[in-house]
Amino acid sequence: MKRHSRVAIKQLLRMSEPAADVCVKGWVRSIRRGKGVAFIALNDGSCFASVQIVLNPGMDNYAAVIKVGTGGCLTVVGQMVESPASGQDWELQASSVEIIGEADEDYPLQKKRHSFEYLRSIAHLRPRSNTFGAVFRLRSALAFAVHQFFQERGFMYVQTPIITANDCEGAGEMFRVTTLDPVNPPRNDEQINWKEDFFAERTGLTVSGQLQGELFVTAFSDIYTFGPTFRAENSNTSRHAAEFWMIEPEIAFADLADNCRLGEEFLRYLVVYALENCEEDLDFFNQRIEKGLIDKLESLAKAEFRTVSYTEAVELLRNSGQNFEFPVDWGHDLQSEHERYLTEKIFNGPVFVTDYPKQIKAFYMRMNEDEKTVAAMDLLVPRVGEIIGGSQREERYDILRNRMAEQGIAEDDLDWYLDIRRWGTCPHAGFGLGFERLLMYLTGMENIRDVIPFPRTPGNARF
Ligand code: 4AD
Ligand code: MG
Repeated sequence: MKRHSRVAIKQLLRMSEPAADVCVKGWVRSIRRGKGVAFIALNDGSCFASVQIVLNPGMDNYAAVIKVGTGGCLTVVGQMVESPASGQDWELQASSVEIIGEADEDYPLQKKRHSFEYLRSIAHLRPRSNTFGAVFRLRSALAFAVHQFFQERGFMYVQTPIITANDCEGAGEMFRVTTLDPVNPPRNDEQINWKEDFFAERTGLTVSGQLQGELFVTAFSDIYTFGPTFRAENSNTSRHAAEFWMIEPEIAFADLADNCRLGEEFLRYLVVYALENCEEDLDFFNQRIEKGLIDKLESLAKAEFRTVSYTEAVELLRNSGQNFEFPVDWGHDLQSEHERYLTEKIFNGPVFVTDYPKQIKAFYMRMNEDEKTVAAMDLLVPRVGEIIGGSQREERYDILRNRMAEQGIAEDDLDWYLDIRRWGTCPHAGFGLGFERLLMYLTGMENIRDVIPFPRTPGNARF
């Protein structure tokens, strides 16, 4: 066969007139054999739609080609013509077909619909399904949109470390990183002697890039991180992963209100970006995954984000008459049932909850004048609950030292973090947006395992 340059099916389907001698390569989604003709739906992942290939029995290897089977890989050369049948505008009349990779009838993604659970067990193949094709295309587009949003606004992208000695959130959920012999580690009396470990101290995988981000914000004013974060939290929920991606902007000369404004602008930008650039995939989610999704996104694009303090939120929940599994008590963290009730029933849209009790939040959050609450904010959205968590940071040296002491954090471990409060400290704030939570919101997918290519959850790190 003569060598042709491959054209992406996405480009092909956008053609406005017939074309001769086009070449596509892709994987067979289905084959229909009729009398004197066969049709193949070929997909190369460049877009949701497959191209319809029309096969003429007069072709040399016709018999071999129609036996290739769903999942097989083909090169097709032919003529792109207007399709006489309904269902597609164009079809590709094959003049030659080359079989690149065969597939037999054991290929698991045959026609029938599969449960998402089953598809997780074949994570190596699920990208070739309609749903996961759409999810991962959207994920890629949105990652680009994240960078575009910040780059357009002059934010600097900083790559914070993945291996670190500090537990930013203080929740004790770090995965250990060590090269010590697990059976017989060096000891000092009874204790493991971490001084002999690779980094000469206890290290782990980062739970957040924030603390290092704060160092950079006192040099570059507006920064963001976008990378993987890890939490050894042994909770098997549909919204938690042990490895997830987080976007963490940090802004100097900013307070909690500025932070909320940035969060609102950011989320709105991402929603509008998806509506404008991922139409075909969103249509699928709208029809098959969450009815009314597009209306929801369009109304978010226009919505005014509401703000309530934690104290007000507790009042609203207590007066709601709703029977919750967990009691609502000032001083305790909101459970996801409470968060969802607030955003879905009370506000029916996105809502910032601010100024949480200091005892349930991390040491770095700025103390409010009441000395009971800190300048924290969580953004809650329907179906997903918490999508953003952030705060204004404690920039006052003495108050920060007190807070660390209160929470039992050794100054020696964070002397570098305290240093930026000694030299040229400034008010600053930031937040973290969970990338997978964003994708759950944008696609309507209800399990975080279904919006990340290879999920890491308790008991699961295959693939
Ligand atoms: O609220 P979190 O724990 O905040 C921080 O890590 C701060 N250091 C962020 C900052 O201020 N720079 O996490 C932020 C967001 C959450 O709102 C949620 O969207 C997501 O990260 N997230 C998770 N996503 C998936 N799986 C998990 N286990 C997650 N934990 C947090
Ligand atoms: Mg949080």
